Amino acid sequence: MEEQERELQLAEPLIMTMLMTPEMANFSGNVHGGAILKMLDQVAYACATHYSHHYAVTLSVDQVTFNKPVKVGELVTFYAQVNYVGRSTMEVGIKAVAEDIHSRQTRHTNSCYFTMVAVDSDGRPVTVPKLMLDSPKTKARYVAAKLRRQLRIEHDSTMQAIDLKWTDQLDTLSEQEIEDALNAEMENTRE
Ligand SMILES: CC(C)(COP(=O)(O)OP(=O)(O)OC[C@H]1O[C@@H](n2cnc3c(N)ncnc32)[C@H](O)[C@@H]1OP(=O)(O)O)[C@@H](O)C(=O)NCCC(=O)NCCS
Repeated sequence: MEEQERELQLAEPLIMTMLMTPEMANFSGNVHGGAILKMLDQVAYACATHYSHHYAVTLSVDQVTFNKPVKVGELVTFYAQVNYVGRSTMEVGIKAVAEDIHSRQTRHTNSCYFTMVAVDSDGRPVTVPKLMLDSPKTKARYVAAKLRRQLRIEHDSTMQAIDLKWTDQLDTLSEQEIEDALNAEMENTRE
């Protein structure tokens, strides 16, 4: 599809609230990180499919950090929005807020960014509508998402270089080179 033919679309916020039930608990009685990840993925999927009117698959997710535990019995509300679209990719930002149902106290538990790809029924990427940047907030989100996109590209290439040198081509390194690198890293982490 040609660029000028792409329709413009608003990024509508998607809000989903879930009750944290006992079967989601880990051994310490808090909600299992994997259970939260699954919910985040479902929220990202719902947000991306609603925006694109197509099925979507998860390409990547970044910066999922659990700063505070989520407890069984709490309500967790996920606030999601499409921040940026490429041709078939959409960055969905999600903020999770937990609420103690008795005290009504809320706390921001984590935020993360999913990259979703809109696909057809054969799993091939399809073009999504362009994002309508109708307010300073949506424009700022778009700029931030573009910066994160660039960071992901740089991060991927650094990770590939590390894998290449220290895993794929390990046989080409001498014991002395490995020893020297280890000593340099130990020196870096010494307080
Ligand atoms: C997502 C998927 C359909 C992309 O297929 P592909 O053959 O790489 O498609 P394309 O090369 O046309 O890329 C499609 C888009 O993804 C982006 N992309 C693909 N691989 C990427 C990567 N490693 N990093 C960043 N972006 C990537 C491309 O830049 C392109 O973006 P754009 O359309 O917005 O310009 C394919 O990788 C896939 O099916 N992955 C599995 C998804 C899945 O099953 N997820 C659930 C976890 S099990």
